[in-house]
Amino acid sequence: MKNTDLENRVSRFKKIFNKEDLVHPLIASIKLKSHLFEDIKNSSLAYLSSVLGEGTKNNFDQVISNFQQAESGLKNVTPTGMVLPKINTSLEYNLLLRSYYKALREEYFFEKFSFCHTPAHLRVKWPTVKYADLNRPRHAPEEMHFDSWSGYSSHGVTLLLGVLGDVENNRVNFYSPNDHFQEKWLIKEHKPQEKELLRCYSQIDFIPPEGYLVLLDTAVLHQTYREQKADIRFSIDNIFIPKLGLDSVENIEYGRRLELTDPNLLCNLGSECLYFCDQNEGQIKDSRGGSIDPTSFKFISLKG
Ligand SMILES: [Fe+2]
Repeated sequence: MKNTDLENRVSRFKKIFNKEDLVHPLIASIKLKSHLFEDIKNSSLAYLSSVLGEGTKNNFDQVISNFQQAESGLKNVTPTGMVLPKINTSLEYNLLLRSYYKALREEYFFEKFSFCHTPAHLRVKWPTVKYADLNRPRHAPEEMHFDSWSGYSSHGVTLLLGVLGDVENNRVNFYSPNDHFQEKWLIKEHKPQEKELLRCYSQIDFIPPEGYLVLLDTAVLHQTYREQKADIRFSIDNIFIPKLGLDSVENIEYGRRLELTDPNLLCNLGSECLYFCDQNEGQIKDSRGGSIDPTSFKFISLKG
């Protein structure tokens, strides 16, 4: 590899992750502890039940079936699939996030990160995509993209975790850069044409097994992908900032910088802090064209 920017990214990745966890020089895949992954699944189910409302039991088949039936009537699901927390679901949302960060804290890489973009989201991906949902102000997740095009840090590492449903057939595809990669492409103002990206990227043959967390460098191009037989799936995505920087200048939009939180604090949701999501169903916060998170919340410290 002769591209110094990529070399720098690869070298940093080697310092953050164990060699046996690298499925690509810029992608790690790590199995979460089984009982902690079960906690995340259970708290996701409880959150989704609370989103559906009274009368829905925390039963996997029933929640999935009710969610599919309610698709067009769900007011708090964004076009990209974020299941937004509201006043009536704040409690279950906090429990879900706590189970997620507690599972991450058990892994060796956790201490190598300083911040994460918050709040993390449980996202639904329906079996098929609606044409109208592809028309996004920046890009749709179904298009090949870098997360930094949404204003997130160009030095970030994206964490993806399939949680419930058809995580095998309704998944994310990853693309590997070659030496013609240009660091400036990570900034949306220098977004190249898709044909230029296709010349410099090739698809990686990797499907994460259930219960495995996937961690990818910002320079890994990716997109939501559904096989024809795909069914509904739910997953969590969150972007972390490593303590170890890169040689390049970090690009992060102002609104996204304000969303950074210490992940250690989030392991103590319920004892040291809380998210109070202060909107009712149907109330939607303006994300200013995808520049800020659409969750309206107050982050409350419970320490005196
Ligand atoms: Fe993405």
